[in-house]
Amino acid sequence: MPSAHEHPVFAWVYEALTARSDSRGADKMRSRLVGSLSGRVLEIGFGNGLNFRYYPPEAHVIGIEPDWEMLRRSIPRAHAARAKIDLISGDGQALPFRDATFDAAVACLVLCTIPDAAAAMAEVARVLKPEGKLYFVEHVRAPGRVLATFQDLVDPLWSRTFAGCHPNRETAAVLARAGFRVEDVRPSMRGIFVGGRAVLE
Ligand SMILES: C[S@@+](CC[C@H](N)C(=O)[O-])C[C@H]1O[C@@H](n2cnc3c(N)ncnc32)[C@H](O)[C@@H]1O
Repeated sequence: MPSAHEHPVFAWVYEALTARSDSRGADKMRSRLVGSLSGRVLEIGFGNGLNFRYYPPEAHVIGIEPDWEMLRRSIPRAHAARAKIDLISGDGQALPFRDATFDAAVACLVLCTIPDAAAAMAEVARVLKPEGKLYFVEHVRAPGRVLATFQDLVDPLWSRTFAGCHPNRETAAVLARAGFRVEDVRPSMRGIFVGGRAVLE
């Protein structure tokens, strides 16, 4: 019986969905997100490891992911990567690292799904060095009222279908509460997707 963190059917569907979206341009988003990082980099909720190939050799990536089926699918991608990638099975809401150990952190399409995203961001703030930065691409609550109301309506069914993903998370507020100041924000698709960089205040 899979644990609360394991969604084997979703992992299979996600593999197919992302093969399609990456071939239609999401790969460029991934490359932009992690392609210039160096030093010790934490990636939370790395899923099936689609970002791994884009990290440069200067990065030493430590990834944490609670879904074993996702993690299993990421292993060949970790081996094929140019950067050294260490995989940890664990929960982003309780990171097994000392304070101030990472030069950078990456959150890619994950704050929609972590049950307590604020707790995870507080943990990321704790383990980042004071000058460390968080690099993110997330889908978020739409800025427009009509779209946001639609997201609220579909949320119950959506989250059951997509392994706990919520389409209407207020991610900017979550980051601010954890002590991050967002800089270089890049919204796309009517503000449903937001990429950027955040620094510790
Ligand atoms: C939509 S997938 C994104 C995967 C990957 N980051 C990507 O860019 O394709 C969301 C991921 O968040 C992970 N996740 C869920 N709860 C988590 C938690 N508490 N801590 C860390 N990751 C979590 C899921 O297991 C899943 O792999």
